[in-house]
Amino acid sequence: MDWNNILTENLKVNYPIIQAPMLGVSTPEMAAVVSNQGGLGSLAVGGLSPEVTRQLIRQTKALTHKPFAVNLFVHDVPAYADNDLEPMRQLLLQLAGKRGYTLDPADLSNFQLYTYHDQLDVLIQEEVSIVSFTFGCLDAASIQRLKEKGCVLIGTATCVEEALFLQQQNIDMMTIQGIEAGGHRGTFIDTIPLPQIGLFTLLPQIINTVKIPCIAAGAINSAETMQAAFDLGAVAVQIGTAFIGTEESVAIASYKKKLDTAKDTDTALTRAFSGRWARGIRNEMMNDIEQAGITIPPYPLQNSLTGKLRKLAQQHNDAAYTNLWAGQAAVTIAGNHTKDVFMNLVKQYEKMHL
Ligand SMILES: Cc1cc2nc3c(=O)[nH]c(=O)nc-3n(C[C@H](O)[C@H](O)[C@H](O)COP(=O)(O)O)c2cc1C
Repeated sequence: MDWNNILTENLKVNYPIIQAPMLGVSTPEMAAVVSNQGGLGSLAVGGLSPEVTRQLIRQTKALTHKPFAVNLFVHDVPAYADNDLEPMRQLLLQLAGKRGYTLDPADLSNFQLYTYHDQLDVLIQEEVSIVSFTFGCLDAASIQRLKEKGCVLIGTATCVEEALFLQQQNIDMMTIQGIEAGGHRGTFIDTIPLPQIGLFTLLPQIINTVKIPCIAAGAINSAETMQAAFDLGAVAVQIGTAFIGTEESVAIASYKKKLDTAKDTDTALTRAFSGRWARGIRNEMMNDIEQAGITIPPYPLQNSLTGKLRKLAQQHNDAAYTNLWAGQAAVTIAGNHTKDVFMNLVKQYEKMHL
């Protein structure tokens, strides 16, 4: 069958299927496998240091000569007084003790916070050809620098107003992220209430409003859901949760196991882990932080505050005390390897069209 469309042509891929960037879960290996199979792999580098960003890009390049996307977070670091973080620090120390972990108070201060501005030179030097981003829109100077290098830019929208903004900024394509999606909401217009729009409600509204190609994201994990997104006008699908259980993912074993049995009602939106709204399987850490009655500091401060405790839990394969990002359809596609998950989707879809 003919998979070719504007996205496959512009991104030089065989299939309009994108493996979602998943910070903390996806790897250079995962991205490279998807790209080598003819899809678009994505490397998540949001908020990482320039050095680590370069290292991950080089690792991916060593594994594939095909195009892959590098994904950035677009956020500011809010001004804060150290005292503002004290109540959350005390809570986290108490929760760590309750869970049997020892947190050093020093782990809860002096964070090294990076923004995409720290990473842009690396992306340009490494000649990254596709840059996707979420949480906002790159500034005009960065857009210009990347475009001068021939880079294709893919933004993220969670409502019509964000889609219009991305179009005005001359972004080439956009991922439309429905409320079903796992991980952080890409939302970035603060003056409107958090968009909580289902993908199949949002997709046609955006496609009828903007002129640039749209990619559908949120609970897509089968030939049928892919077909539904294409029928509504998407030029590609972006799939995250379905790849969490693979060998190439660095999700801890207990997180992968939770996904095997997750039901439609098991995920929730929370700010507990990072200070930004994100969807994950409800667990004890989410409940404890939400129910403590303490103001949750904004992203990326809360993300850094909870980081060490989540790392400790991960080292102990403790799914109760780390973030378990997942979409509302946590059904895993058959296959333990990224290649099988990806190719099973392609084959299922082709079979539907015989
Ligand atoms: C574990 C996890 C981590 C994610 N991290 C990122 C990220 O780093 N950058 C990004 O743009 N989107 C991220 N997302 C959101 C995905 O891009 C995408 O919107 C989502 O996975 C689609 O929904 P699905 O998980 O139901 O397939 C993440 C999603 C998950 C599940």
